[in-house]
Amino acid sequence: MSLLDEIKAKAASLQKTIVLCEGEDKRVVEAAAQVTKEGIAKIILIGNEEEAKRVAPDVDLTGVTLIDPETSEKTAEYAKILYEIRKAKGMTEEEANKLARDRTFFGALMLKAGDVDGYVSGACHSTANTLRPGLQITKTAPGTKLVSSCFVMIAPEGGNAFCKDGAFVFADCALNICPTAEELAEIAISSAKTGAVIAGIEPKVAMLSFSTKGSGNDSKYTDTVSKVKAAVQIANEKAPELKLDGEFQFDAALVPKVAALKAPNSSVAGNANVFVFPAIIADNIGHMFAERLGGFMAVGPICQGFAKPLNDLSRGCSTEDIVATVAITALQSTL
Ligand SMILES: CC(C)(COP(=O)(O)OP(=O)(O)OC[C@H]1O[C@@H](n2cnc3c(N)ncnc32)[C@H](O)[C@@H]1OP(=O)(O)O)[C@@H](O)C(=O)NCCC(=O)NCCS
Repeated sequence: MSLLDEIKAKAASLQKTIVLCEGEDKRVVEAAAQVTKEGIAKIILIGNEEEAKRVAPDVDLTGVTLIDPETSEKTAEYAKILYEIRKAKGMTEEEANKLARDRTFFGALMLKAGDVDGYVSGACHSTANTLRPGLQITKTAPGTKLVSSCFVMIAPEGGNAFCKDGAFVFADCALNICPTAEELAEIAISSAKTGAVIAGIEPKVAMLSFSTKGSGNDSKYTDTVSKVKAAVQIANEKAPELKLDGEFQFDAALVPKVAALKAPNSSVAGNANVFVFPAIIADNIGHMFAERLGGFMAVGPICQGFAKPLNDLSRGCSTEDIVATVAITALQSTL
């Protein structure tokens, strides 16, 4: 069974309720039907029947619950919740009433109210518009101040010599553009949890740089080497039980022979399966190399650090990607 099939099977055993916010998008309507038919989760689709029929006329939505914020009896209750959360930030009751009708805010409010277990959106909304309701309403999980994101990189069929567990985690790929040392440490700890829960791996976290244990230095320019060193120290203090080390070049983190030369005293070097990049620019390029040159399948971005699971789809996503994201979101609700 592939890792993705395992994730779907685990999700099916949980029977969580996930809200899909974009009933106006054909791929989302198709995914709602597919998830329901395959029994992966219970789906609430934000939209209405007329619209769903228009965008996806051949799709059978038996078993999918459709809710339209314009007509739902819950909208007023959700507007009150929103107002209470945001009034200290200057939100008026009028603004809360209007925003509660916005589909992404409505979805995030369903999650806050405990009416669903997870939220998936972003097929036709930008990352900022998809995640802002979550950042403002759901907030972060206890013990973390940062929401971040990662990709689970699934090894190609036939395997990869360095990927013994069948999957790696790469982070942060989509949210924090230039994280501080403290933020990198948070990304590392959250990514280890995601790796364990979603990919079923025992995390060994490598904090990446262009330097291995002091071999390089960029203090005249951006000073990322000392930032990553500081992140290693902070993460080790915050999560002493976690196998986490750095700073490493990617080859020292991945290849046992290189690790023996460059970082002989590290138990993570040469064994890593969770890779934390020093900034989004590196991760974004790195995961595409692995995908396009290495044949890995990039699943995500998966958001981590929220108090309850919310995930952002890529606007180029397929119906299958949405189904996979729903299954992942269901698993995250057990964290
Ligand atoms: C994530 C992102 C959308 C947040 O947008 P934003 O405009 O900073 O949001 P806001 O400033 O309105 O912040 C909203 C709230 O979220 C909080 N917040 C923002 N980023 C956060 C984070 N990473 N973790 C936790 N909280 C965060 C803010 O503190 C704020 O809280 P408050 O209003 O209660 O004080 C923004 O960081 C972003 O655009 N990141 C890059 C996304 C991108 O382009 N990705 C590329 C995809 S390939």
